[in-house]
Amino acid sequence: MAMPDSRQIGVFDSGMGGLTVLSELVQKLPGETFLYLGDTARIPYGSRSPRTVKRYSMEIASFLEQHDIKMLVVACNTATAHALPDLTARMNVPVIGVIEPGVRALLSATQSGKVGVIGTRSTIKSAAYETEIHKIDSSVKVVSQACPLFVPIVEEGWMNKEFTRLAVREYLGPLHDQGVDAVVLGCTHYPLIRHAIALEFPEFKLIDSSVEMAGAVSAAVHATGIASAGKGSVRIMVTDVTEQLSSLQDLFFPHPVAAVDEILLPEISAG
Ligand code: DGL
Repeated sequence: MAMPDSRQIGVFDSGMGGLTVLSELVQKLPGETFLYLGDTARIPYGSRSPRTVKRYSMEIASFLEQHDIKMLVVACNTATAHALPDLTARMNVPVIGVIEPGVRALLSATQSGKVGVIGTRSTIKSAAYETEIHKIDSSVKVVSQACPLFVPIVEEGWMNKEFTRLAVREYLGPLHDQGVDAVVLGCTHYPLIRHAIALEFPEFKLIDSSVEMAGAVSAAVHATGIASAGKGSVRIMVTDVTEQLSSLQDLFFPHPVAAVDEILLPEISAG
């Protein structure tokens, strides 16, 4: 039996959306201590260049490393798409990105061999999902679609508006027309819009990458013998306390949180 490891698990995202992942994590691993960092000062990552997303991700990783984490969970799809190899090379602890677990579930779900990927512009442009899918099965046809309006729609709380149904139809119609049968929600915010997608396109099997991610983190914690034996807790840190912060926290994380701390990230060079 491995000794219990009480160090915390670091989780980061471009903002509060990654709390969808944290929410699944605390349910799956209630005995773990989580340190979440949301880069609210620099969100959105989804419209930024790969170089900048990489730099931001490395700065966050160094910060979390100083807090003695035992694992780094990259909850942000855009950060995973651009920075996962660099983060894995840089860190001395296991690094888990959100893309691979979602891809595995997507490939188990498809019967037609045609799958859909939706995400931010930057994630879609990176083709990171496609690359991961084709690493496992090169015969699968991938239809990708950037849905840049979904992040602001979710943050406005417009999950059940007619406007949202129109946006869903516009973005996902082409996936439907091309015979896609399974779609991965490749962005932290999209689990909240899942219901609107299911109403418009009930035939799609929707893969929630936050649920898949929690399963992967739990498996990794147990496989590497670093599970904690304590009472779990959550600490949330942000790089900017904005006016929207507490409403976003309630939206993405329906659990009690003691406090949200603001921190200043030291800048590092892009390397
Ligand atoms: N967290 C980002 C993602 O999962 C969405 C928000 C952003 O653009 O930064 O891709």
